[in-house]
Amino acid sequence: TKVDMTIGDLEKGDFEHFMLKEIFEQPKTIEDTFRGRINPEHTEIVLGGLLDVLPKILKARRIIIIGCGTSWHAALVGEYLIEEYARIPVEVEYASEFRYRNPILNSEDVVIAISQSGETADTLAALRMAKERGATILGVCNVVGSSIARETDGGVYTHAGVEIGVASTKAFTAQVTIMTLFALKLAKENGRISSGLYLDLIKELSEIPEKVKSILVKHPHIKEVAAKYKDAINALYLGRGALFPVALEGALKLKEISYIHAEGYAAGEMKHGPIALVDDNLPVIVVAAKDHYYEKIVSNIQEVKARKGNIIAVVTEGDTGLTSMVNDLFEIPKSHPAVSPLLAIIPLQLFSYYIAVMRGCDVDQPRNLAKSVTVE
Ligand code: G6P
Repeated sequence: TKVDMTIGDLEKGDFEHFMLKEIFEQPKTIEDTFRGRINPEHTEIVLGGLLDVLPKILKARRIIIIGCGTSWHAALVGEYLIEEYARIPVEVEYASEFRYRNPILNSEDVVIAISQSGETADTLAALRMAKERGATILGVCNVVGSSIARETDGGVYTHAGVEIGVASTKAFTAQVTIMTLFALKLAKENGRISSGLYLDLIKELSEIPEKVKSILVKHPHIKEVAAKYKDAINALYLGRGALFPVALEGALKLKEISYIHAEGYAAGEMKHGPIALVDDNLPVIVVAAKDHYYEKIVSNIQEVKARKGNIIAVVTEGDTGLTSMVNDLFEIPKSHPAVSPLLAIIPLQLFSYYIAVMRGCDVDQPRNLAKSVTVE
């Protein structure tokens, strides 16, 4: 296979770090990932690598999505979207658990591996096991011709380009873009979505690159907020619905590169443990975009505020209702909840990046971590 890469791709250009460059590339990489999969009239989604297996997926008893790290978070977003729109049962598992736990699998199951590198040892081994047990196996990989891409019965490439920063950013949003296309494609094929909503959501997806740009230009504000919290010892990230995996991914970014202990939680679980941690030292990052969970997340914000936690909220532009309740705000443009994970993660990536830089950490090569974990 031809390696589609120029020297320019491997240079940081005007950016201080690869991670920052990759964060700023996302308007383009998200567009590259959906362009060519949506027809020019914006009426049809074409996923060429799934053509042969589509009937099988539509008849699947369930879809199991596996991955590690950030890819596992993209899988969780996929679970929400596929179940919501295509109404096919989905389970998400860590590849490292799935491969060893003797799962019940047969030829009616479809197992999808999400992997940036396509080489993660646990993910590859889990796929091979699923194949042996008769499941149809598919891949969502970024690296063309990688082991997972070669061994699967079908799949879809993310077109994020080469990712150098160990902490995944543009590969994540490309994976989520594929999950969105995949959910909509299945929903259309099995008739579970109205054509009006289907067309609206394709349009919403096509508007994401411009909206991501409008978040990126606010980087000076995000940097200022980061400066206030750079000395934190712990951080808690909360979200609900498809924004719960965004909270997990936000927390992972912070811990990977700044070494601040950070945990992501489903906001409704806060009362079952993490609320005990809240005091006037704890930054609590709440992903509170306008969706049908909004009222619930506002109650969670009030609970944190009552215990004097420092709240940083990711909110929908124009949502002034929260201003008095929170310490800091990151605004994201209004969008349909189906695509809001692609927006909500952007300020959280930048927030982690600036904190890590201010703490003097090596953001592109964090200690003890590897870009691709090819051994167990
Ligand atoms: C490592 C990387 C992460 C990545 C994970 C899974 O831990 O540091 O950024 O999310 O592996 O990698 P994959 O290539 O399978 O997506």
